[in-house]
Parts: sequence; C-alpha cells; structure tokens
Amino acid sequence: MIQKNKKSFPEGFLWGASTSAYQVEGAWNEDGKGPSVIDMKKHPEGTTDFKVASDHYHRYKEDIALFAEMGLKAYRFSIAWTRIYPEGTGKINQKGIEFYDNLINELLSYNIEPIVTIYHFDLPYALQQKGGWSNRETIDAYENYAKTLFEFFGDRVKYWLTINEQNMMILHGSVIGTTDPNIKNSKKELYQQNHHMFLAQAKAIKLCHEICPGAKIGPAPNISYVYPASCKPEDVCAAQTYSSIRNWLYLDLPVFGRYNSVAWSYLEKEGCTPDIKEGDMEIIKAAKPDFIAFNYYSTETVSGDSGGRVSNPHLKKTQFGWEIDPLGFRITMRELHDRYNLPLLVTENGLGAYDTLEEGDIVNDDYRIEFLRNHIEQAKLAIAEGVNLIGYCPWSAIDLVSTHEGISKRYGFIYVNRDEFDLKDLRRIKKKSFYWYKNVIATNGEEL
Ligand code: BG6
Repeated sequence: MIQKNKKSFPEGFLWGASTSAYQVEGAWNEDGKGPSVIDMKKHPEGTTDFKVASDHYHRYKEDIALFAEMGLKAYRFSIAWTRIYPEGTGKINQKGIEFYDNLINELLSYNIEPIVTIYHFDLPYALQQKGGWSNRETIDAYENYAKTLFEFFGDRVKYWLTINEQNMMILHGSVIGTTDPNIKNSKKELYQQNHHMFLAQAKAIKLCHEICPGAKIGPAPNISYVYPASCKPEDVCAAQTYSSIRNWLYLDLPVFGRYNSVAWSYLEKEGCTPDIKEGDMEIIKAAKPDFIAFNYYSTETVSGDSGGRVSNPHLKKTQFGWEIDPLGFRITMRELHDRYNLPLLVTENGLGAYDTLEEGDIVNDDYRIEFLRNHIEQAKLAIAEGVNLIGYCPWSAIDLVSTHEGISKRYGFIYVNRDEFDLKDLRRIKKKSFYWYKNVIATNGEEL
C-alpha cells in the first residue's frame, strides 16, 4: 500500500492539455485584433497559414465542453497580445478582453483551472516594426500588457506563464517565424533581445505577485536533457556546454538571477554578450518564480568532434523525425529538480503524427496513446523519486496548426476535420486517445 501511494500522482494534480492562441483560434483579424509577427510570416510551401486554424475563437464553447467531457482539470492556453493591444501598446481592445473573459469563465464553469501563457511567439507586428525585442520599449509594452492581464483576469487565473520557449525563439526563431527577416539579426542582436526578454519576464513576475496575491507564475522554456555521444570526456564537455546554452541559461537567470557562467563564456567567445544596463541584474534577481513550467518533446545528443547535435542510435523517431525518449523525460525532470528545487509543471509534451479519419468518424491513434503512456509512466516514477511535479499538460488539447509543418502534423486528442487548404466542416471528432486520456484522468494516472 505504501509503495502504491508513493508512486501515485498527488491529489489535485493538474491533468491538463495545451494550446496556443495563434495555432488554434483563427479569427486572425476579427473583432479588432491586430497583426502579429506570425500573421505576417511566410509559410513553408504546402502548409496552411494561421488565419482560420481550428476556428477555436468561434467554437470555444463546444471545445471546452469536450475538454470537460475528457475530464481535464486544467487547460493551458495563451492570450493573443494583439487581441488585447492591437498595436502592442496604446488603447485596450475591449472585444479582446471580452473573449478571454468568456473563455476563462467557461472553463471555470466546468472547474477547469486556466493556466495562461502571457506570450506565445505572437509578438505584435507593430512592435516588430519598431525593432521588436531589440528595442527596450518592448519591455515596457510587455510589462503593460501583462499588467492589463493581471488586472482583468487575475481574480480568476491562478497560474501564469511568462514567455513560451524563449530559448527556442533565440535558437530557432527564423523557423518559428519570430525572428524579424528584415533586420540584420546578428547573434549579438539576438542575445540582446534575449536579455530584454529576461527583463520583461522579471517585471511580469514581480507585478503578478503584487497584483494577484496567491497566484503563481513561472517561466516556460523548452527543456531537453543533453546526452554526450559517448563517455569520451570531449563529448561530455560538449554536451554540458550545449546544455548550458540551450537549457540552463534560460532558468539560471529567472531562478538564481545570474547568467549561467558556461553560457556567458560562450557569448564572450562569440562576441555577442548583451549590453546590460545598470540596475538590470537587480530587476532580474528580485523576481522569484513560483514554479518552473517546461515543454518536453525529446532529448538531444551532442558530440565533441562536431560540437553539435548528432542523432541518438538508441532512440526511435516520429514520422517527423523527432526522437522519442520517455526515459529522457524522467532524466530531464530529475535534473530540473536537482538544479532548481522548485515545483515543475509540464506545459507541453506530445506526438505530432499524420492521423487517418476512418469511416464512421474514428481515429485510431494508438501510436499517440503509446507515446503519452510511456511518458506519463516516467512522470510517475519521477514523482516517486521526489520530483515535485504539479501538473501535466500534453500538447495538444485539440488539433491545431504546427509552428511550421501545417495541420497535417496533428497532436490533439480531438480531431479537427480540415486539411491544409480545404477547411471542410471543421467538425470535432474524439480520437481514441481522447477516451484513453479520460480514463487516465479519472483514475488519477493509475490506469495507463
Ligand atoms: C513547441 C511550441 O515548440 O512545440 C508549440 O511551444 C509547438 O507552439 C510545439 O507547436 C510542437 O512543435 P511543432 O513545430 O511540431 O508545431
């Protein structure tokens, strides 16, 4: 019995699922919404844009009813900055406030805990035109936007995420569409933007604690444990360096208030250390996150010879070439726990795959069930080992448009009947994984 309890998910565990505004909402220019950098980006050939996406903006009630039927205890979504401030700053768009008010109230009516990402890749285009994150004014705009969210929604939202995957925006921004293609984005400039985002994040954390006592807020980077290609010391050293630049830079700053020293020496070597103004580090140090949210899809493997990524021969890959590593999930959680000793919240984890809609509205996504089962199993073991995991929100609650690989790369528990260029009827269809996850939640992770 004792053993069983030890391995169980705690009471009140936040069984959830995730989305982001621009990938699910559609209605890209409705009700006063301004354009974001994502609306202005060029889409890879053969993939859809984000104009309609899953049409969640118009169908949120139907979608939330389905989330409730699945038994979700939490729903992690993002607010589109340009619905609230069409130009990033200035006058509030009341229609935007109304939409998220309704969404939050709808969730609460089913006792689903809203977990809100303040900013998920969709910087207002008007701010990008003024230099985006290179311009320190964007820090003020973000702070003002975050303040607005805390004031309007802070009475009901208890979990806030500052910035989704800041590390991916810096390391892979041109693929995601967040890096401005028109300005010279030297590495130095990107790391300057990075520094400004850390400041913006710190200001939001401080404001959240002031305006919404009792609410919790944390960063939400993408974290992957980095393996050395072998036990050769050169490989181990390269893997550590890689991890400092990819992972720890983004958590040492918010948690400890200092630049990770290995990452800093890399920035020095590359000649791209940011300009740090007087008082910046004090602002960063003063803000204390309540938890660490993180997105996990896979691990990475690094070789000292190339100094870069190599593929891991021990891991299978998804149809989209992403390595599948459930044990790596546990290893990543252990490492986060050891380094930071803060509660952990998984805000993304999932399998992108081509699903087939069969006769009679059936989607047999056994591969997705297997992926999630294996990851949840490892989460359970991590908890038994002392990791303070407070929730698990796989990507994604419902099918949505991938960052750069269209809607054919599906992640959801709920199928959305459309394809890349034919919107069909957009009807919602429960996949096999929907029923499976419903039972996982109902049994608090006992039946996987
Ligand atoms: C994360 C992002 O990087 O991974 C999501 O936060 C994204 O926005 C998810 O959709 C899966 O990546 P992709 O490229 O398959 O959409």
